[in-house]
Amino acid sequence: MAQLIEKISQIQAALKSELKQASTLENLEQVRIAFLGRNGSIADLMTELKALSVEEKRVAGPKLNELKQWAQQAYDEQKYALEREAARAEQRSNKYFDVTAYKHNQFQGRLHLYTQFIAHLQDIFISMGYEIVDGPELETDYHNFKALNIPDNHPARDMHDTFWVDVPGMLLRTHTSNVQVREMEKRKPPFALASCGRVYRNEALDASHAFLFNQLELIFVDKDVSLSNLIATAKTFLQALFEKEIKVRVRPGYFPFVEPGVEIDASCPFCKHGCSICKKTGWIELLGAGLVHPNVLKCSGIDPDIYSGFALGTGLERIAMIKYGITDIRFFHSYKNEFLSQF
Ligand code: PHE
Repeated sequence: MAQLIEKISQIQAALKSELKQASTLENLEQVRIAFLGRNGSIADLMTELKALSVEEKRVAGPKLNELKQWAQQAYDEQKYALEREAARAEQRSNKYFDVTAYKHNQFQGRLHLYTQFIAHLQDIFISMGYEIVDGPELETDYHNFKALNIPDNHPARDMHDTFWVDVPGMLLRTHTSNVQVREMEKRKPPFALASCGRVYRNEALDASHAFLFNQLELIFVDKDVSLSNLIATAKTFLQALFEKEIKVRVRPGYFPFVEPGVEIDASCPFCKHGCSICKKTGWIELLGAGLVHPNVLKCSGIDPDIYSGFALGTGLERIAMIKYGITDIRFFHSYKNEFLSQF
């Protein structure tokens, strides 16, 4: 037994110095096999222990156990130190490592639905040969109403629930049709223009109404522009928007600044025989449009005997809601990540 106890301390001393000398993970593995392996020196001691008497085992057993535990721990510590050193060396040799490589589950910033959708619409308009233009949101009564054939006391003003501002004759534009006027004032036909932007109406907020929303507007003026140009343009736009074959249906509609005025419906892009989106009719009311009223052309300095044009407008949220199945206009301004992260 004395021999065994002697061996235990010898092995401990030997392992200590071997671990110290093991400078690579490969060296360390050799040391592990020699001492802690299935046929290593500690396993040999276990075999020797079995040959001892019960009393002797009671003395030598705990000592051998102690050695085993110490050996394992000493090995683990050295292994950890060598691994850390190897990782550091690797890092030192990689001058340009990717600091973001291990970032998991980070929220990713993205463009707001508005920004994405407006860019998408503008791409469509540009592909159709339209130039993108913009107009002021703080507008004069003249550009928002009078020049669009809506004089003072015209009943159409009632439909616009206008936000007037403190400056007399100024308002928050109620539609993007002000852009028609502003562009016609400074251009000579032919021109094909598209505009998207914010408009304001004093309406109670609910799932489909907002006091601040967006519209898009097209205007095309040239010689001999007719309703068939308008209808073909509407169809091309709607097909690009919904990325499928769309039929259009044209109904008479009234807007003071167009004559004739029309409303254009699209065949439901989602069903054949009626669904909740088209309210079981197969058609969705989408666009207000018409041929630019001669008074409007004249008012902005364009001769209606030479030129004609069409204008077309619609609510931007409305078409986004239909395209993406959004059920509430208030989501657009909700800043809810669950909503926004879907786009
Ligand atoms: N400006 C109209 C509205 O806000 C829409 C429209 C635009 C209608 C162009 C006809 C032509 O309701």
